[in-house]
Amino acid sequence: MNICPTLHSLPPYKYPKPLFHSFQTKPTFNLSSHINYFFIHKHIHCFLLWNPASLLKMLHNLVGAITGHNNGGSTKQITGTVVLMKKNVLDFNDFNASVLDRVHELLGQRVSLQLISAVNADSENGLKGKLGKPAYLEDWITTITPLTAGDSAYKVTFDWEDEIGVPGAILIKNNHHSQFYLKTITLEDVPGEGTVRFVCNSWVYPVEKYTKDRVFFVNKTYLPSETPLPLQKYREDELVHLRGDGKGELQEYDRVYDYAYYNDLGNPDKGPDYARPTLGGSSEYPYPRRGRTGRAPTESDPSSESRIPLLMSLDIYVPRDERFGHLKMSDFLAYALKSIAQFIRPELEAVFDKTPNEFDSFEDVLKLYEGGIPLPEGFLKDIGDNIPLEMIKEIFRTDGAEFLRFPTPEVIKKNRLAWRTDEEFAREMLAGVNPVNISLLQTFPPASTLDPKVYGDQSSKITEEHIKNNLDGLTVEEALKSNKLFLLDHHDALMPYVRRINSNTSSKIYASRTLLFLKSDGTLKPLVIELSLPHPDGDQLGRISSVFTPAEEGVESSIWHLAKAYVAVNDSGVHQLISHWLNTHAVCEPVVIATNRQLSVVHPIYKLLHPHFRDTMNINALARQILINAGGILETTVFPARYAMEMSSVVYKNWVFPEQALPADLIKRGMAVKDESSPHGLRLLIQDYPYGVDGIEIWFAIRNWVEDYCSFYYKTDDIVQKDTELQSWWKELVEEGHGDKKDEPWWPKMQTREELIETCTIIIWTSSALHAAVNFGQYPYAGYLPCRPTASRRFMPEKGTPEYDELESNPDKAFLKTITAQFQTVLGIALIEILSRHSTDEVYLGQTDTPNWTSDAKALEAFDRFGKKLAEIEEKITNLNNDENLKNRVGKVEMPYTLLYPTGESGIAGKGIPNSVSI
Ligand SMILES: [Fe+2]
Repeated sequence: MNICPTLHSLPPYKYPKPLFHSFQTKPTFNLSSHINYFFIHKHIHCFLLWNPASLLKMLHNLVGAITGHNNGGSTKQITGTVVLMKKNVLDFNDFNASVLDRVHELLGQRVSLQLISAVNADSENGLKGKLGKPAYLEDWITTITPLTAGDSAYKVTFDWEDEIGVPGAILIKNNHHSQFYLKTITLEDVPGEGTVRFVCNSWVYPVEKYTKDRVFFVNKTYLPSETPLPLQKYREDELVHLRGDGKGELQEYDRVYDYAYYNDLGNPDKGPDYARPTLGGSSEYPYPRRGRTGRAPTESDPSSESRIPLLMSLDIYVPRDERFGHLKMSDFLAYALKSIAQFIRPELEAVFDKTPNEFDSFEDVLKLYEGGIPLPEGFLKDIGDNIPLEMIKEIFRTDGAEFLRFPTPEVIKKNRLAWRTDEEFAREMLAGVNPVNISLLQTFPPASTLDPKVYGDQSSKITEEHIKNNLDGLTVEEALKSNKLFLLDHHDALMPYVRRINSNTSSKIYASRTLLFLKSDGTLKPLVIELSLPHPDGDQLGRISSVFTPAEEGVESSIWHLAKAYVAVNDSGVHQLISHWLNTHAVCEPVVIATNRQLSVVHPIYKLLHPHFRDTMNINALARQILINAGGILETTVFPARYAMEMSSVVYKNWVFPEQALPADLIKRGMAVKDESSPHGLRLLIQDYPYGVDGIEIWFAIRNWVEDYCSFYYKTDDIVQKDTELQSWWKELVEEGHGDKKDEPWWPKMQTREELIETCTIIIWTSSALHAAVNFGQYPYAGYLPCRPTASRRFMPEKGTPEYDELESNPDKAFLKTITAQFQTVLGIALIEILSRHSTDEVYLGQTDTPNWTSDAKALEAFDRFGKKLAEIEEKITNLNNDENLKNRVGKVEMPYTLLYPTGESGIAGKGIPNSVSI
């Protein structure tokens, strides 16, 4: 606004910035405003000479500005900055394109913004807050910093209307032809308010895509009962809109969060082999809900939802703001997954089918990481037309020439052989990628909870004789009483499926029990492994079991090594399906849905939980499309094959929400006991249990943060009970989101602050730390398949068979012929390599990518304390990893336990706790 032509002739003097603002808004009476006065007077003088007709108006405004009683209305203006990201920045096709091209295309009158009053209601519009006149995006601001690459900032100027009073929301209309990602709107010098911020982080599509205008609220926090009346209807309307009407197929631009069963995994139209039971909605196959897409049913089975073609995988519906795309890396991950499913896998499969191959030796396997193995003939040519070379390079680390080459997994980086030792086998139960299954042995021999009427005698055949010489001088009774016997139990969960898996798939597996002894140096040693099969003549006849004990020489040592491999196979399947998929990815999805449907963005609990939902719906939708679907990558590479998801549904029957709390889980597994004299009132029975030790620190850091934050808004239980949105949220999460378990007695009733705090802690813990602990170690530990094979293809060789002879003469070859085949190995490694990577825009626990996520200073201070606490924990973890007395922290593989180290690095770092289940 050039008020005086002579201004331009005044350089080099720099005018203080507030000069212009003082005409527009109420000044504060401080030194700088007095200085501004001086300049104002000076300019009024030249203004008079230039345009005397405006003098009166100018003086009027000036008086208003000085006294703070500007009632001129129409001439007072408020400036703001709108930060957004244009659509094309996120397109993979623009991977290398300039992000600043055509930045002006949003200008003109194409994007309008209207202030909504938080204090004055419009009696003609259902008492909704008064709506201001539209303002439009103006100049592209080039000077604003810091902006993330791809962001653009625009100026907007509102004619201030007194009847707006206090702006509580903004209504936005995008009349442009394409969508943009709106990040923030910041208004400066709003009368009586100063700076007013809107944190939007949402895609705004052209108006014709919406049935309701887009409204964004200021970054204030309101319990429902405290919402200013003029905003209340906007708050309610927004939630109604997000819930949708449950009808029709949802489109890319839709923002609807709704529930559905897992009836989209099978593809019955492709034939009976591709039919899968619906998971969820029955007592036989209970399951957490997924996000609804509304796709049409299949032709052959009206209860199954049709699938979208692989080619369209990235277009699978999730509510628009849940889609990947914060930065290119996320798109890359999605694209890479799709490429593997769509092009790479069929090509690999075809070639390996033509020339079935085995790894002949461990050296042969190591070639995958050192130098690479030759790419199958024609492979690159066949897929090269469909996938950019850049992508193939990323996925296979090939130079585009001839080799399949992967990064060396951490577990064999420093020591190539240590993975085979009993020590490492046991250590990974405490500090590996699946440290959540080991339990204290409470009775000897281990018991089964399977129904004897159905499964006959499933008791263990392990006797005192098997272990008594290995207990460092203790009797079995003494070892049991002194809490020194531990169990890795993969018997009861697997036994009901062993017969079907062994008969109907190419896998040959056993149910397994592994007993371990806690030595005086704090490490575990395996004592015995029991491998069991259902009786060949029928389930009711119980199990047939073989028991194996450690051996270091001769064919016995090869047999022991194989027995450990069968356990590792079970553990890797249970890890992927239960610890990882079911207990983090799947159980979190309905929480994301319920929260978005029932809690307004201005609700304190929405603000608390929202960072922990990022990308979860999208990665899960993508997983249903290409990983866990019938014939998908998981079924191809992990031993339960077509029974994989069904098995996870059966295990969900035993899922108990309150036991997802780490302390409850540790106590349930007997790994910790309550002890008032210990820090946090909890004592681990294996002191050097890295997952437990670091986990307890992280759990209580989260809990303290949640308690601090919640205490600010919920001073009494009464406030919890009277929070209508909170009550609807919880009711819906229990009755719809986890509807198959709605009658369980253990659900918190959400009547007290304590229940709220514990619930939110469980949600945050599960989506951040628990997921990190079981996700980001995948490649570091299991990238070397012999260490954690995903399948076994034949049974333990029997004496007198050619397989037994081979085990004697060439044990390594026999081992490699037993575990995952070459094709599945390559496919599996390529997959977990992608799934173990932190993206470049990862937001770690205690961090935020939205500094103004709330305007409440106390909440921000508490968050700051949380960050500092996590930094302290990092230091503690580093010290523990350097303590040579703690033998489970690093182990013979020389791999420090960093999976619960809060801050990470992009790529495969095996370190870092992202806020959410995002990959
Ligand atoms: Fe994951």
